Amino acid sequence: MKLGVVILAAGQGTRMKSSLPKVLHSLAEKPLLGHVIETARNIGADRIAVVYGHGGERVPESFPDADLMWVEQAQQLGTGHAVEQALPAIQGMDRALILYGDVPLIGQDTLGALLETGKQSPLALLTVTLADPTGYGRIVRDDNARIRRIVEQKDAAGDELAICEINTGIMLVDGARLRSWISRLENGNAQGEFYLTDIVAMAVAEGAEVQSAQPDDPFEVVGVNDKLQLAELERHLQRTRSEALMRSGVTLRDPARFDLRGKLTAGSDVEIDINVLIVGDVVLGDNVKVGANTVIRDSRIGSGVQIYENCIIDNAVVGDGGRIGPFARLRPDAELSANVHVGNFVEIKKSQVDEGSKINHLSYSGDSSIGKAVNVGAGTITCNYDGANKFRTVIEDRAFIGSDTQLVAPVIVGAGATVGAGSTITRDVPPDSLALSRCRQIGRVGWKRPQKS
Ligand code: UD1
Ligand code: MG
Repeated sequence: MKLGVVILAAGQGTRMKSSLPKVLHSLAEKPLLGHVIETARNIGADRIAVVYGHGGERVPESFPDADLMWVEQAQQLGTGHAVEQALPAIQGMDRALILYGDVPLIGQDTLGALLETGKQSPLALLTVTLADPTGYGRIVRDDNARIRRIVEQKDAAGDELAICEINTGIMLVDGARLRSWISRLENGNAQGEFYLTDIVAMAVAEGAEVQSAQPDDPFEVVGVNDKLQLAELERHLQRTRSEALMRSGVTLRDPARFDLRGKLTAGSDVEIDINVLIVGDVVLGDNVKVGANTVIRDSRIGSGVQIYENCIIDNAVVGDGGRIGPFARLRPDAELSANVHVGNFVEIKKSQVDEGSKINHLSYSGDSSIGKAVNVGAGTITCNYDGANKFRTVIEDRAFIGSDTQLVAPVIVGAGATVGAGSTITRDVPPDSLALSRCRQIGRVGWKRPQKS
């Protein structure tokens, strides 16, 4: 049974009040449409067709993936018309699953249940019962609770408006039947649109028993129409992610003040303080402690690492037993081996720091290789950039760099060498030697400051 997924994403999204097409707005750092595409892939879709329109090519350009088929719906004439545009794209599929690009949290398990239900019928709907069904298409059932048709809010009259079971819009349809039903849709309704929902009455007229399934969690079928709903879904998603992490053993000091915008793989006894943001693909080893107000993006943190408050770690690697921060910034390609200490107001970029080395205060290491057991004093700066090109600084094992030193790259400080505080190092320093470039101190005993005349 081949499954074609059609994602409707052509609508305008006026209420977002934004020049960005609605389906490109982010939920947990991923476009709304991206969530739906990922779910379609995860349920094993054989083909994924996305109907786009408003926002034009920006939508397909945001998803260059080869497995997606893009179908333009230049004019939005209704959900039935939208699906019609996708029919050539899902040619040969036994079943078509209709999803909405602005309903991002639809879950795999719920869709699995719909796919199962749909085995018994050419048409299965995902429905929910809402306390306030205003605005939605209502599911009209007969006395035997069999589905007869869907009536849209604007076309509903009297008793129909009191129906609380609504159409989520997500449905599973037999491929061949869909074609024939779509070809017979008409737009003589309150909105002058081709309603996909009219296929329900057609199926019933042909004697089909239309089935229904319900989502595990009502948030799964909530659509995003404005920034408020976007924020509500974000909070719900974050709550779900926090709960899953806590169930897996991660300690979150406050699950409401933790955000995961990506994937976190955490070892045992990981503790995360408040206002921590994890972005992209992050791995935390066993016994990692993350201090408050820290952002970690696409990084690997080894076991037993202590990250103190207010750190930014981006595309970096921290070896086992490291100590980072408070107020440290690890930039892309900072690679720290085991037991490295990086203290406050230290910035490290494109640099390898080997085992046991310490850069504890107010320092910049860019484009450098720092050996084992090196001590980099406070205020040390690698001068890696001459305004046009970048150059490397190499500091070999056991070197000691005195405070307030500038290392003008390219330059090598040999193993075991000592650089005196306040030096500007422009030439290589031989191993086990002393380099000192500061001026000699002078003294004048009894010297008097000038007086104002
Ligand atoms: C639709 C359903 C309604 C259901 C509701 C759930 C129909 C006729 N009605 O109503 O029963 O309760 O969704 O939210 O299907 N879209 C296109 N092209 C179009 C029109 C819509 O791509 O020409 C897309 C929109 O971008 C959106 C989705 O289809 O993602 C639903 O469209 P929308 O206008 O929100 O439909 P509703 O009138 O709310
Ligand atoms: Mg809608």
